[in-house]
Amino acid sequence: MYNFTFHVPTTIHFGKGQISHLDELAQYGKKALLCYGSGSIKRNGIYDEALRILGQAGVEVEELSGVEPNPRIETVRRGVETCKTTGVDMVLAIGGGSTIDCAKVVAAGARYDGDPWDLVIHPEKITAALPIFSVLTLSATGSEMDPFAVISDMTKNEKWGTAAECMKPTMSVLDPTYTFTVSRRQTAAGTADMMSHTFENYFTMEPGAYVQQRMAEGLLRTMIHYGPIALEEPDNYEARANLMWAASHAINGLVNAGAANAWCVHPMEHELSAFYDITHGEGLAILTPAWMEHVLSVKTAPMFATYGRNVWGLQGTDDMSVARDAIAKTREFFFVTMGMPANLRAVGIDDEKNFRVMAEKAAAGSKGSFVPLTADDIVEIYRAAL
Ligand code: NZQ
Ligand code: ZN
Repeated sequence: MYNFTFHVPTTIHFGKGQISHLDELAQYGKKALLCYGSGSIKRNGIYDEALRILGQAGVEVEELSGVEPNPRIETVRRGVETCKTTGVDMVLAIGGGSTIDCAKVVAAGARYDGDPWDLVIHPEKITAALPIFSVLTLSATGSEMDPFAVISDMTKNEKWGTAAECMKPTMSVLDPTYTFTVSRRQTAAGTADMMSHTFENYFTMEPGAYVQQRMAEGLLRTMIHYGPIALEEPDNYEARANLMWAASHAINGLVNAGAANAWCVHPMEHELSAFYDITHGEGLAILTPAWMEHVLSVKTAPMFATYGRNVWGLQGTDDMSVARDAIAKTREFFFVTMGMPANLRAVGIDDEKNFRVMAEKAAAGSKGSFVPLTADDIVEIYRAAL
């Protein structure tokens, strides 16, 4: 296990009614920029409730609405402009990962003298940010408790993740009842996303990270158990609560601190979203089994077999055969149990014309300790997923 520093400054208020804690924002200033998406928070009442609590606490509100799924740099620029011209003291995101990510870069952009796209492609330029708060409405990305933000410039087919300590939220409200209205499709995509974060951290050649590995298996078992329940019973509190808390821990450092890992499915998926604007979790579900099959070898079979035994309860002593069964189980879970699109054609990607350029870009982010991937490898994975 490598040396590491683990620091999560985010205060989590978890459970029904915890939005009442938004009154604590008054300690951080007089004016908040409220960021949200296309209106789900107005339909399910969270918007009115948040404005009521902030009003009572004496916090004024400016708004940044219309944050897109796969948030755009143009929207970030709009938010930064509002912060700079109206003297906003803090940023409050109410929504899913897209809204929180947008709010994070707005908060950093408000403290940066230049175009916020610089902060997306040069994370080291993020040196300060306004305090960031979130009310999570969709369990998936873990943005509510992590330093990352992913922003797109569709005019250039670019989608990049950035990160900074100062973009970790100061406080996040996690009320599972707020996710009752998440659609079947987004529930499946969110489950696939949190599973992918866990996989990216779990598959590592670093020996001795036993506790991280067993925690990751516990998270995966939780997601596999509760994902299908949330699909069938959208207002099942136990299912929504377990998914919500599992998602936060999949990416907040708990399961990867001390264990070398290299995220490789995410860079491949970000290229799909950058070129075709698809839903992140659906792209991950499509690519994950194809990636697993591509990297399965005599060397990696023991790791996939451990996954099969500890997560899926598979029996058997032959590692290669258990590994193959584990990958088949993963495939079946995404495409049958969760009913997700099973290949790229199903999300509207019908030909391979962009595969080479996407693979070259993804390869830059895929060098790592589990199985390093070249651009040729990635083209093969895209083809297998077509
Ligand atoms: O726009 P609204 O009206 O809010 O509707 C959203 C959106 O259409 C809707 N939704 C959210 N909460 C809802 C709801 N609908 C009904 N009821 C609710 N309670 O769901 C749709 C998708 O929302 P979005 O925020 O885009 O989803 P998600 O949370 O999956 O975020 C995806 C984005 O996060 C990035 C992805 O690349 C993608 O851009 N990621 C961020 C990460 C991070 N910050 O750590 C890591 C991830 O790997 C990921 O890359
Ligand atoms: Zn993700």
